[in-house]
Amino acid sequence: MTVEERIEQSRTHVFKAVFPNTTNHYDTLFGGTALSLMDEVAFIAATRFSRKRMVTVSSNRIDFTQPIPAGTIIELIGTVGKVGNTSLTVQVDIYIEQMYADTREKAISGEFTFVAIDEHKKPVSVLG
Ligand SMILES: CC(C)(COP(=O)(O)OP(=O)(O)OC[C@H]1O[C@@H](n2cnc3c(N)ncnc32)[C@H](O)[C@@H]1OP(=O)(O)O)[C@@H](O)C(=O)NCCC(=O)NCCS
Repeated sequence: MTVEERIEQSRTHVFKAVFPNTTNHYDTLFGGTALSLMDEVAFIAATRFSRKRMVTVSSNRIDFTQPIPAGTIIELIGTVGKVGNTSLTVQVDIYIEQMYADTREKAISGEFTFVAIDEHKKPVSVLG
C-alpha cells in the first residue's frame, strides 16, 4: 500500500452527542474534553496508519473558532498529515451538526504529533 493509500484508509471519523455531562457553565463543550477527544481520535488515526505503538509527543496549534452548544452532534475527523521517519502528524477537525437541521460547521481544528516506539519505548520507523 502506498503512503497516500495508508493515509486514506486510516482517516478516522468519530461522532459524539454533546450531552450536559461534557459541557461547562456556558452550556458549551468544555475545551479540555474537546482536547481529550481530539487526542484520542488522532491516536486512533496514527495507530491505524502505522500499526505500531504510538505516543503523543506534541500537540501543535489548536484553534477553537466556534463554541459547541449542548444538544448538538459533533463529528471528529483525524487525518494523517506529514509522515516523518519515526514521527507523524495528525490533523483533527471537529464539526458541529444540529440535531434537527442539516447544518454543519467547523468548530475546532488542531494538529498532534505522534512517535512510533518499540517495546523498550525507543523510537522506531512509522513505516515498514
Ligand atoms: C516519544 C519519545 C520516545 C521521543 O523521544 P526523543 O528522544 O525525543 O526521540 P527523538 O529525538 O529520536 O525524536 C523522535 C521523533 O520525534 C520527533 N519529535 C520529538 N520531539 C518532538 C516534539 N516536541 N514535537 C514534534 N516532534 C518531535 C523528532 O523530530 C523525531 O521525528 P522523525 O524521526 O520523524 O524525524 C519521548 O519523548 C517520550 O517518551 N515522550 C513521552 C510520550 C508520552 O508518554 N506521551 C503520552 C503523553 S501523557
